[in-house]
Parts: sequence; structure tokens; C-alpha cells
Amino acid sequence: MFNLHHKSALVTGAGSGIGAAIAETFAAAGAKVFVADRDEKGGRAVAEKIGGQFVLLDVTREAECTEAAKLAGQVDILVNNAGIGHVGTLLTTQGEDLDRVYAVNVRGMFNCAKLFVPAMLEKGSGSVINLASIGGVVGVRDRFAYTTTKFAVVGMTKAMALDHSHTKVRFNCICPGRVETPFVQGVLKQYADPEKAHQDMSSTQLQGRMVRPDEVAAAALYLAADESAMVTGSTMMIDGGWSAGK
Ligand SMILES: NC(=O)c1ccc[n+]([C@@H]2O[C@H](COP(=O)([O-])OP(=O)(O)OC[C@H]3O[C@@H](n4cnc5c(N)ncnc54)[C@H](O)[C@@H]3O)[C@@H](O)[C@H]2O)c1
Repeated sequence: MFNLHHKSALVTGAGSGIGAAIAETFAAAGAKVFVADRDEKGGRAVAEKIGGQFVLLDVTREAECTEAAKLAGQVDILVNNAGIGHVGTLLTTQGEDLDRVYAVNVRGMFNCAKLFVPAMLEKGSGSVINLASIGGVVGVRDRFAYTTTKFAVVGMTKAMALDHSHTKVRFNCICPGRVETPFVQGVLKQYADPEKAHQDMSSTQLQGRMVRPDEVAAAALYLAADESAMVTGSTMMIDGGWSAGK
């Protein structure tokens, strides 16, 4: 139903998981897609598959963000998807862990928004979609650094939306529950019994299964399309009801 004809999009962290699914969905909807990732192998593979253009980009490096913005030029859609996780409580998380997760999950989104939004404002339209998480809306056990940064992403999105509410540039975030991606597969491997951990992670969604990457990409497509013109500053939950309560 939604199309992105005549639109261009840059998706960070598009070499894997949710970002790859978003890039693929956007390309299928008619957008010109820039597949940005610090992982050259994964990023190039996705770009080749969808007929997009690969951009080597580590979002924590401002110089690389500047180069990416020059290369892509004015884009209609920015998806700030690149993110990393960390398992730990306040007591088991070190300051360096928090700094590392913050650098990608918060500062990286800030770096990209700061460079891509001015051209959107100049054009008079645009859509910025930030990947937050269920961990940006409710606390997630044993994810101190991750939860801290994802609450910041929700706050950052609302602040951006408010400050630009007099324009047609929109800012929204998506909060998925557990999505079965290499990110989650990596976390599962850290448990003594990965199969039990998989069951536990599935049961946090009221439907009893994990979210699929294409289900998150469908939400991103809506937020990128003109049909969501009245949606800004929102947190779209794709969490299988997790945030509704138990
Ligand atoms: N998988 C989940 O359960 C889940 C749930 C909620 C939110 N999220 C969020 O969705 C986003 C994508 O998660 P995913 O599960 O697809 O992860 P993933 O690990 O499968 O993919 C993340 C991609 O981001 C890239 N990346 C990491 N750091 C980067 C950096 N500094 N610069 C550029 N690229 C970088 C990686 O190379 C990788 O290709 C993240 O922001 C994550 O926090 C994931």
C-alpha cells in the first residue's frame, strides 16, 4: 500500500538484522537506498541484494558521518538503526561499557541526525526514524547500559520532534520487543542454556514468539511514507504486547 517512489533513504547498520530488513523493504517500495554500515562485508552484500549503494560508516566517527552525508547528498529518510547491546546490571557494568554503548546508541544517532536534518529542513520535508527498543519504555533486567541509552533515544526523538514541529520534517522512534536477529543470537550464546533463554525471550512477547525483522520494517515503511504525515514524536511499539503488562 505505501510507496517510497522518488524518495531516497539512508539506513545505518543496514548490513544485518532489522536494518537489512528495512533497507530491503524500502527498496521494494521504490526508494533509492544507501546501505550504511561499519561492517563492509555485510553492508555490501545487502546493497548488492537490493540494488542499493553501500556506504562505509561508523556512526561514532564524526568525520565518516560527514563523508556519508556528502556522498548521499540530500536524503528524504534517515533511519538511525545502528545499535549495540550489553548484558549487565549497575554492578557488573563498567564505565567503559556504558561509554561504548552510549557512543553508538545515542551519540551515533545524534551525529547522523545533525548532518542529515539540515538538508531536510531546507527541502521542507523529511522523516527521521530512530530505532529505540522496548528497553526505551520499560526497564529490561540485566541490560543497564542498553536500557539507559534506549530511554535516551526516546527522549532525543521527542526533543527533535518538538523543536521542529513547525516544519514538515518528522521524527519518530520504533520500539521493538525481542527481534530474532544476529544481535539477539549473539546474546543467546552468552547463556549457559541458550535454548531455555530462547524460550524465555520468546515468552516476553504476549504472543509467545519473537518479532520478525520484516514486521519492524513494515512500521518503518509507514513512518517513512507520506501517509504518516500527522505522526511525529511518537514511539511505535512493535513488541507483541510486552509493554501492555503481565
Ligand atoms: N534485535 C532485537 O531484539 C532488538 C530489539 C529492540 C531494538 N533493537 C535495535 O534495533 C537496532 C538493530 O538491531 P539488530 O538486532 O538488527 O542488530 P544486528 O547486530 O543484527 O545489526 C546491527 C548492525 O549495526 C551495525 N553497527 C553496529 N555498530 C555500528 C556503528 N558504530 N556504525 C555503523 N554500524 C554499526 C553492525 O555492523 C550491524 O550490521 C539496534 O539499534 C537495536 O538496539 C533490536
